[in-house]
Amino acid sequence: MTSIDLSARKALVTGGARGLGAGMAEALAKAGAAVAIADVLEDAGKETAQSLRDAGATAEFVPLDVSADSSWEQAVPAVVDALGGLDIVVNNAGIEVTNLLADLDPEGLRRMLDVNVVGTALGIKHAFRAMRPGGVAGNGGTVINISSVAATIAFPGIAGYSASKSAIDRLTRVAAAESGRLDYGVRVNCVYPGLTPTAMGNKLAVDCAEIGLFPSPEEAVQAVVAQTPSGRLGQIDDMADAVVFLASDAAKFVTGAGLPVDGGMGM
Ligand code: NAI
Repeated sequence: MTSIDLSARKALVTGGARGLGAGMAEALAKAGAAVAIADVLEDAGKETAQSLRDAGATAEFVPLDVSADSSWEQAVPAVVDALGGLDIVVNNAGIEVTNLLADLDPEGLRRMLDVNVVGTALGIKHAFRAMRPGGVAGNGGTVINISSVAATIAFPGIAGYSASKSAIDRLTRVAAAESGRLDYGVRVNCVYPGLTPTAMGNKLAVDCAEIGLFPSPEEAVQAVVAQTPSGRLGQIDDMADAVVFLASDAAKFVTGAGLPVDGGMGM
């Protein structure tokens, strides 16, 4: 995505310490954006920010628990101070608890709703407050929420996760409508990543085998690949490129949209 220029843009990526979020932060930085890595994992988050600085980018770590309103209240002004503004918020932080419905663990479901749904909704709230006219950043901007192919298909073992990711889809649409109605000047979109071998993606395959859905993690992965027209798993840069596109002026007439980046699995 070398043709996209995000220089002078300031981006906050939640869950940016590792996995897809770290890849998105790196891709945004490569396109020229200054980046804040916002995460509960302080050591990993600081290391990711340092490695971006080592590569010549402007990058800072900001501690953030996306599920806590008070944490956002501290993090957003800290990012605006450190980077000199805020134009792009990527609500990527998420957790996954694998569970058969017949064995449902309500605490696991509540945790997923708290991080994935409340966390994304708070990210939209604080992005809007900062970016709308009169906010600390005040120039409009763009919000990208990370949903999942799990919001578009029925895969066994992930009912609660799928429900939380479907909620992100609806949050995205209503947020885009509110931004339009109230002239916030903020585009809001979401991405549905396919299965990608990060810490979360790898653990999901192991969990699916452990709860008896597949004989082994490898066979769980094979089942996903078999349902994917592109014939492979996702890679971090597949998701990162989609985020860079949606963050850029190449997507200036795109809002309230959901972009599947799943090799066709969810069609
Ligand atoms: P990961 O587990 O490797 O990384 C998640 C990051 O979010 C971690 O750095 C973690 O510390 C952070 N995080 C968790 N709870 C947080 C909180 N309360 N506040 C701030 N940060 C928090 O996961 P991965 O694979 O990188 O996933 C990133 C996003 O992409 C998630 O929303 C996930 O649901 C979604 N996704 C992942 C897929 C995959 O196969 N890896 C497929 C579809 C969607």
